[in-house]
Order: sequence, then C-alpha cells, then structure tokens
Amino acid sequence: MSTRGPNDLVGPRSVAVIMDGNGRWAKRAGLERIRGHERGIDAVRTTVTECARLGVQALVLYAFSEENWARPQREIDLLFKLLKRFLREERDTLMQNRVRLLHSGRRARLSPDVLGLLDETMAMTAGNDGMRLSLAISYGGRQELADGVQAIARQVQAGTLDPAAITEETIRAHLYHPELPDPDLLIRTAGEMRISNFLLWQVSYAEIHVSDVCWPEFGAEHLAAAFADYGRRVRKFGKVL
Ligand code: FPP
Repeated sequence: MSTRGPNDLVGPRSVAVIMDGNGRWAKRAGLERIRGHERGIDAVRTTVTECARLGVQALVLYAFSEENWARPQREIDLLFKLLKRFLREERDTLMQNRVRLLHSGRRARLSPDVLGLLDETMAMTAGNDGMRLSLAISYGGRQELADGVQAIARQVQAGTLDPAAITEETIRAHLYHPELPDPDLLIRTAGEMRISNFLLWQVSYAEIHVSDVCWPEFGAEHLAAAFADYGRRVRKFGKVL
C-alpha cells in the first residue's frame, strides 16, 4: 500500500541520467559514432527543458566519465567540441528556463577553454532560482568518494576532526555537490542495466528506469514514460509501510 497522499508531488524532485547508446544509434543509421553524440545534444536540450517545465529541482547528466578518457582521442576531442558548443549556444535557453548550471567532476584534466566556458556559464546562471543542472564531466563515483575521503583524512591529520565523529553526513558534506538532493529517479537509455560508476553514494535509494531507446532518440514522450513509471513505484527506504 502506498503512503502517498492526494496532495503529494508524484514527479521526481531530482533526476539523474546515464545517456547511453549514442554509438549504437549511429552505427544502426550507418553513421560515424560521433554523429550519435551530435544528435545526443538534441536529446539533452529536450530533457533539460522538459525537466525544468515539469518542476524537477535537480538534474544530473552523465556527459563524460573518468573512464571515457580512454576513448580514441578523436572521439574525445569531438565530444568536448560538442560540449563547448552546447555551453555557448544554450545559455539563452538556460537563462529563459531559470536553470542554474553546475559541474560535477574533476577539473584537473579539463582544458582551459572547457573550464573557461563552464565557469562563465556557471557564473552567468548562478542567480537563477529554477532547476539546477549539473553536468557530470570527467566524473566518476569512486573518484568522487576518493576525493572526499582525502579531504576528510587531511582534517583528521590536522587534528581538526576526530575519526569517531565521521558520520554519513561527513561523507555527504565532502561530495562534489552536497547541496543537491539525491536522485529520486535514475534513467539509463539503450537498455543497459548498469550504474557505470555514476553517483554511487547518491543513488542508494533512487528508483531506476531503463529505457530501451538510444539516447539520440530519447524525447519528451520517453521522459514522460520514465516519470509515469516512477509514479507507480512505492518507495519504502528499507522500512515496512
Ligand atoms: C554514451 O554513448 C554517451 C556518452 C559517452 C557521451 C554523452 C554525451 C553527449 C550526449 C553529448 C554531450 C553532452 C552534453 C551534456 C552537452 P556511447 O558512445 O557509449 O554509446 P554506445 O554504448 O552505443 O557506444
């Protein structure tokens, strides 16, 4: 039995997306892999706009993982070219939708031009009070935890933190964006049933929706299907209802 009341919000407050299947979509269409990433930008635009319209408070998109650095250099270069184009061209749309942009991930391997555009867009949208959109770029869930543990260890070493005082909240406070709510809904496209090192801490109680369509063809109707699926879930958080 659901404890949901008639006035409760049914839609997810926070959504995370593993955008998979760009390469497969391109291959099926007889195109180069990168064409799939290009078409993927349309799906990014639709998802961001729709989530903002539907009242989602936080959206995290897995755009480039730490493991993706092992892809062919040509594909990496083209992915970052697309990312830069997105950051330049979508600013008006982000502003119109009152979206605030954030970055989740390590900055060390990102080029100065990517960092410059990210920082500029984050600064420009910093005052927006609508949905927060975090782009996970050079991101890994294990790396995020390792970075947090290092910061905590430094405090212990400096004598400012007692190891016995380390709680779940201490770890949460050292995630890249502790202020973002944990995803209620994790969407993955292209039929794969894996987490792939995405938001390992944060997805503990996320409802998972796997869509069979490849990311370039993921549209408003597929997002609506994911939300409808989420609306049918009974969330118990380990308790008995
Ligand atoms: C997975 O498809 C997708 C990626 C590794 C990159 C996702 C990037 C974009 C959609 C474009 C840029 C993003 C933003 C936010 C502007 P895959 O290549 O692993 O597909 P495959 O498994 O079918 O080969």
